[in-house]
Amino acid sequence: MEVVDVTSPAARNKALVTTADDLLVLGVPVYMGRVPALLGEWLNTIQASNTPAVCVVVYGNRAYENALLELKDVVAKRGCIPIAGAAYIGEHSFSDSGMLTAQGRPDEEDKNHAAEFGRKIREKMNSAASIFQLSVVDVPGTYPYGGITELWDVDFIEVDEQCSQCGHCAEVCPMGAVDSNNSAVVDHGKCITCCACIKACPQGARMMKPGPVKDAQARLFNLYNEPKQPECFI
Ligand SMILES: Cc1cc2nc3c(=O)[nH]c(=O)nc-3n(C[C@H](O)[C@H](O)[C@H](O)COP(=O)(O)O)c2cc1C
Repeated sequence: MEVVDVTSPAARNKALVTTADDLLVLGVPVYMGRVPALLGEWLNTIQASNTPAVCVVVYGNRAYENALLELKDVVAKRGCIPIAGAAYIGEHSFSDSGMLTAQGRPDEEDKNHAAEFGRKIREKMNSAASIFQLSVVDVPGTYPYGGITELWDVDFIEVDEQCSQCGHCAEVCPMGAVDSNNSAVVDHGKCITCCACIKACPQGARMMKPGPVKDAQARLFNLYNEPKQPECFI
């Protein structure tokens, strides 16, 4: 098994090349009910040759809308045969100790669900003599995908005096938006509001300023506190 983590900007410079002997399992977060645009750019560089693919979206307990359908369509265009799909729940990017949304997800039950999903995929693959006999999976979603793919350009991160300039926030930022020489400086044109820097700060020195992201955090906390269940399609 080879794991390709495309979280860092450098990792997304390399195109993924796969063959019919591989099984490609793709997991992407859901942004505004869609595949995040920056991941779309990387996904569109995949060079696959009849590679069976499993499409997985992870969302923050609100909704995944058309993200799974979009992911399936993108990988099919790149030469994959989408044979299975799933939607799992992960702690919401905007969740924090004051306003937790989907805290602790994926949990043990989610992981058991994923293991069962894996068994179903193996059964499906073993049932066919060749990949061309595998059916293409049906997943929920509608056209046009809709939603908003443009993200907020917002200065929403506050850094307090606990910051030791350890630089960990700059290392975990998937966009290279945090200045590695001064952690308080964020290029908000690049920032995708994923909050990875806030969550990863060992000092707890980074937090949200009042504004649209903080308001969204409260909305999510109030409206989406009923735990959603994972779904898989095969
Ligand atoms: C800009 C943005 C938009 C998001 N949109 C949605 C959404 O439409 N539905 C949802 O349930 N979660 C949404 N989320 C939450 C993420 O899908 C979820 O937290 C996911 O686990 C994040 O993965 P990560 O921790 O790898 O970034 C959004 C998060 C961000 C930052």
